[in-house]
Amino acid sequence: MMHALLDHQRRLSDHDFARCMETDSSRADRFQVRLGSLVYYYAMNRITDQTLALLVALAHERKVAQQLKALFAGERLNTTENQSALHMAYRGHSLIPTSAVETVHAEKARLFALAERLHSKAYTDCLHIGIGGSDLGPKLLNQCFQGVHKPHIKMHFISTPDYQHLHQVLSDLNPATTLIIVASKSFTTAETIDNATWIKNNFHVPRDNWVAITAQPDAATSFGIPKENVLTIPSWVGGRYGIWSSMSLSAVLAFGTEAYQSFLDGGRLVDEHVLSAPLEANIPVLMALLGVWYRNAWGCQTHAILPYAKGLDPFVPFCQQLEMESLGKSSTLDGKPLLKTDTAPALWGGQGPDFQHAFGQALHQGSFWCPIDFIVPVDSAAPEGQVLQDRMVANAISQASILLTGASANEPSRQLTGNRPSNTLFIKQCDPFHCGALIALYEHKVFVQSVIWGINPFDQFGVEWGKQLARQLSSLKAPQKDLTLDATCQGLLSAARGV
Ligand code: F6P
Repeated sequence: MMHALLDHQRRLSDHDFARCMETDSSRADRFQVRLGSLVYYYAMNRITDQTLALLVALAHERKVAQQLKALFAGERLNTTENQSALHMAYRGHSLIPTSAVETVHAEKARLFALAERLHSKAYTDCLHIGIGGSDLGPKLLNQCFQGVHKPHIKMHFISTPDYQHLHQVLSDLNPATTLIIVASKSFTTAETIDNATWIKNNFHVPRDNWVAITAQPDAATSFGIPKENVLTIPSWVGGRYGIWSSMSLSAVLAFGTEAYQSFLDGGRLVDEHVLSAPLEANIPVLMALLGVWYRNAWGCQTHAILPYAKGLDPFVPFCQQLEMESLGKSSTLDGKPLLKTDTAPALWGGQGPDFQHAFGQALHQGSFWCPIDFIVPVDSAAPEGQVLQDRMVANAISQASILLTGASANEPSRQLTGNRPSNTLFIKQCDPFHCGALIALYEHKVFVQSVIWGINPFDQFGVEWGKQLARQLSSLKAPQKDLTLDATCQGLLSAARGV
């Protein structure tokens, strides 16, 4: 099927897709899918009906529907680590195995009880320490939920062991009234443990103010965190999927259980859709197939996400980890090198309309083009804000339109070539529910792409090697240890010591 797609792409290489919009009056209606208060509009892509038929045939050929069912049924699809990936259990679809449902039920009860106990202590601030999925998810919820809910506690996040940043954050905090959350599935991630250890030794917070979220509760208690303040997450919740679990304690504390539940409900809406909609009208499947189309048939090396909502600022880095840590792979599920197939494009982006005044120029006239996802909330949280929200929507629509239609002018410097494709996800509002739906859409998109490319989206061995080497190199002032390091490290170390 991939060969047929490549042939088809060659026939379309000079096609004018803005013209398709002009001449085909039903294209806009045909190429959109509505799901509750969300619309996925994909008419402005470099596609025809035949493209879609070929892409959907590819999905059937790779057994996408069967694999989605296997995922929800808890099959051990993370083959290199012999694990299931059942983060969807928090969202409650009926296909999830009973044992996982029971585990989640008990975990949620502990999460809510701890949140309630912590509330009664009237902390003013909460410092969340974590990195990767143990930081990006909680940070995203904190920013997104604030648009519609007033936080009960002031949140702060640190991820990198950067003393200047740490110092800046701590200088505003009172140790007596600050809650410290150490979020680490493994409880061995050097950056997180280094930051937590530094704070333990230098910022004298009462022992009771410490909380841990981890899959390794013994490591957390050995660190000194009281047992009753340790939330345990199951091993089948991958680091970059932790956002659904107790990893999001900070959001429950700051915004309450209802906001968290609404977030889970948004994810569940998408779960029900992905498992029941036919592939040709299935939003995550279409998102995945279009990604494959641009990556493998058009050779696009990047993909941009442009949310038109300040609350979704952290959505781009969140998706970067989700897509690039999951799909940045070069070996097949059966352990062979993946030859001649490109996988994850580099994912990047930024918030609209800010990007229009920054890198937008390159999107319109640069020497490269890439597919773009616009994410556009249509309603403001308050009626008096609608006039501004309308401006946001107008900006997003103008950008997508100009990218595809281009603009003619006498001087080349003023011309826009157009034919630059995009998808637009219209959501009703930037709130917990739609945040959950968006994340689940991208999660399933990533899973479907992994099925098409035949790779494991749930491991991340590329990251592990660097973690091990950094441990050996922990001190710049330990020359005797350098003997075990190779020439690349030796060279960089000697340069660093020259500063
Ligand atoms: O960067 C690799 C990684 O393993 C991510 O997958 C994970 O989100 C992050 O490190 C943090 O891991 P942990 O929660 O175990 O500290």
